[in-house]
Amino acid sequence: MPLDSAVPPHLREARVLEAAYPDGHHPPYPSFSAWAEPDVRQVVIAFLGAQGAGRTDDLGPALRAADGPRHYDRAVTAERDDSPAETVVAAYWTDSLAFERWFDAHREAWLSPAEGGRWIEAVRPSVRRLETIAGARSRPEGVAVVAERFSDPIVEHGYWGSMRDRMPATEPLDAPFAPSVIVVDDRVRVRGRGSVCLIRSGQDWSDTVDDERRTYLDAIAPRLHEGMDHLAGPDGPAAGCLSNRFLTVVDDDGAPVERTYGLSWWRTMADLERWSASHRTHLAIFGAFGRAVREQGGRSALRLYHEVAVAAPHEQWFEYAGCVPGTGLLAGAPISSR
Ligand code: HEM
Repeated sequence: MPLDSAVPPHLREARVLEAAYPDGHHPPYPSFSAWAEPDVRQVVIAFLGAQGAGRTDDLGPALRAADGPRHYDRAVTAERDDSPAETVVAAYWTDSLAFERWFDAHREAWLSPAEGGRWIEAVRPSVRRLETIAGARSRPEGVAVVAERFSDPIVEHGYWGSMRDRMPATEPLDAPFAPSVIVVDDRVRVRGRGSVCLIRSGQDWSDTVDDERRTYLDAIAPRLHEGMDHLAGPDGPAAGCLSNRFLTVVDDDGAPVERTYGLSWWRTMADLERWSASHRTHLAIFGAFGRAVREQGGRSALRLYHEVAVAAPHEQWFEYAGCVPGTGLLAGAPISSR
């Protein structure tokens, strides 16, 4: 099958910056990008979190109400020394006006927790500054669920820098995010100058068996956990990572399934590139995955996907109520006047 570009035809443009694509590159295994309908100009990616004793159960009716998300899933973080466990709903809209109406209607109830803390971390990037990659077209996750369809196998993957090549936008995207905290009564908002970079990077090992399952559980998952701990710990900010959570997806009854994802916010996409191409945990994961795919003749039952977005200040909304200090983007953001 001929290879396709990750960029949908209606978003292709004359490049401003050169691509990183190496001459003659042929990806060692297939991957795909999710394409929204041409009339979708922005998507909304909203993470709604409940902390400690707080729950997301009462969000159910709102999620199913008018103007609610086209897709959502629910996941949990583990408790850490410095932060309580969180339940997180990841919700997706392809109509940003519908999101605004929905948020106007449900914001007060959501951000008035009876106990524990609540937060929302949301962006509505232009589709020009959103890229996705998935190893399989069946059972999409995240923003790919609200896309119109997947591309054919894409050219732009399997080399460092391919994430940036998959972005439809070709201008510089690295205005560094400089957050500040605004406190109004019991609400805390984080507003930033510059663009923030989001990655949701997911793993589904429910289809793996035998050697591949052992490789995942013994060689890949422990390094992934280390990498996620590293980014969530004191060294994260020096790498440009503003916040990192590692989540396990749960089913409708709240039971964990064999799917996880890393949710992290970065100062720039360049920082994220540097970390993925140089940190020993991601290099170990990348190497073990490559070997496993080669051993299986180019196939993999481990399902990987990610979505990366770069959002300008007017496309961001970060708000916290009753959360412990250092939650999400509150970590490291200086407090400014109201
Ligand atoms: C089991 C977990 C993971 C595995 C096996 C894995 C493996 C990979 C592989 C194989 C690629 C190359 C994809 C391609 O171009 O074909 C890749 C790219 C990448 N990964 Fe991961 N990864 C994992 C988790 C993560 C996490 C949690 C993050 C988030 C911080 C992350 C960040 C990235 C980034 C940013 C790229 C793109 C680099 C670029 O193109 O410049 N990965 N990963």
